[in-house]
Amino acid sequence: MADEIGLYEAMSTLRAVRRLRGDAIPDDVLERVLQAAAWAPTGGNVQPWRVVVVREAALKQRLGELYAERWAAYSEGHRAMLADAPDAVRTSQEKMLRSGDYLGEHFGETPAVFVFCFNPKNMAITDAKLDRISVVGGASIYTAVQNLLLACRAEGLGCVLTTLLCECEPEVRELLEIPEPWATAAAVPVGYPKLKGHGPITRRPVAKLAYADRFGTAFGA
Ligand SMILES: Cc1cc2nc3c(=O)[nH]c(=O)nc-3n(C[C@H](O)[C@H](O)[C@H](O)COP(=O)(O)O)c2cc1C
Repeated sequence: MADEIGLYEAMSTLRAVRRLRGDAIPDDVLERVLQAAAWAPTGGNVQPWRVVVVREAALKQRLGELYAERWAAYSEGHRAMLADAPDAVRTSQEKMLRSGDYLGEHFGETPAVFVFCFNPKNMAITDAKLDRISVVGGASIYTAVQNLLLACRAEGLGCVLTTLLCECEPEVRELLEIPEPWATAAAVPVGYPKLKGHGPITRRPVAKLAYADRFGTAFGA
């Protein structure tokens, strides 16, 4: 790729882009972002994920209907929760919800939806027996998802990691003919941005996230 964006710039501007144009993504671009996903590390190098690139209109329309239902339920709850939030939080969350509303209405018009699947039988899940929710398995899937997102950023494509469709996995499985025991981990709508696309992000400072040697001890580089 000519004039490729730097990695740090890509990471620091990889915001959720939910307003996407409907025009098709060229095949060579799709192949490059898929290659980026395939480069991701996974436990034991097993690569227990697959991705279904959904471009067929009827399939996208049904995914869009399912997504809209899930988004309506999620956003209603989230809006109710925001009633008592401080002004600054409410303002930024309402902005997110407005862009989410847009995606909810237009999910099915996205040129490509990448549905990431995983095989739970093919993973060494080292925290499976602990008395808490297990997260380790996700680390062999979301590395690929993040690589795909970064590659989309480099290609000037808008994208956002979504997980709401996992709530209706049986319907998605039937629609996309995903066989047992494969399950779904994320759906990433991808398309060229309608507005500015990727840009500045708001995150906690490193000082609030990183500790030195012991949890809670401030990290001073
Ligand atoms: C695990 C995960 C699940 C997410 N699920 C959804 C989703 O279902 N729908 C959606 O619109 N955004 C979803 N997002 C995007 C987040 O809402 C977004 O990254 C976050 O609000 C920060 O926004 P920014 O990246 O634009 O700064 C998800 C992000 C992650 C990491």
